[in-house]
Amino acid sequence: MLEKGVLIVIEGIDGAGKSTQAKSLLRKLRALGLEAVYFREPSRGKWGRELKRKAKETGSLTPGQELELFQKDRQENVEKNLKPALKKKKVVILDRYYFSTIAYQGAKGIDQARIRRMNEKFAPKPDLVFILDIEAGEGLARIADRKEKDVLFERESYLVKVGRIFRGFKGRRIIHIDARQGEKDITRQIYDQTMMDLKRKRFPQFLRPRSMPRKNPPE
Ligand SMILES: Nc1ncnc2c1ncn2[C@@H]1O[C@H](COP(=O)(O)OP(=O)(O)OP(=O)(O)O)[C@@H](O)[C@H]1O
Ligand SMILES: [Mg+2]
Repeated sequence: MLEKGVLIVIEGIDGAGKSTQAKSLLRKLRALGLEAVYFREPSRGKWGRELKRKAKETGSLTPGQELELFQKDRQENVEKNLKPALKKKKVVILDRYYFSTIAYQGAKGIDQARIRRMNEKFAPKPDLVFILDIEAGEGLARIADRKEKDVLFERESYLVKVGRIFRGFKGRRIIHIDARQGEKDITRQIYDQTMMDLKRKRFPQFLRPRSMPRKNPPE
């Protein structure tokens, strides 16, 4: 059992491979016997569902209204999902968090520092944030079957800006990953970094000194 909950966030632009990686990490951690759960934003709650509905009609919300809905959805996700799971000392894998809000709403002109401040007031601090970095065109090509062509065209120039903001995040909890690599290579990197973090902070049993090498190793 972990000493404390752990919050692992996966971020990146549309089609970067977030959900794929979040689910691989979930499987790997569960295979170790850890209690791990997966959540995503926008969440399945009422605000999250409203956001998804509104996102289909482009231009139906101003950037400010959009931000307000994302914040309401996050508050609900934090209270209903994240805090209870962290309190039970689970590993929480979160597919998008407030870094997405800073990047996507920031790219629409809202002050990035203000978005960060309003989130850090109530949102639990992640232990690690993996940012999957891919070119906008490549990410969109991966999910082309999910979207109309004209929507994609408009989306690309916007995602170039969003990607630039993601690339600019710095800090010891932030890990940038080249998302053009194969799925398995990315999974390995995320898994290794996550395990290092768990061992360092939460798995005191791993910190016991290793047993000394045997004096007479078998032939
Ligand atoms: N490393 C990879 N290389 C090539 N294709 C990938 C890679 N990772 C994921 N894919 C494929 O790209 C598509 C998008 O992946 P995924 O749904 O995980 O992205 P996402 O970042 O969650 O997208 P969205 O922003 O729409 O939620 C899927 O078809 C997936 O199988
Ligand atoms: Mg996804």
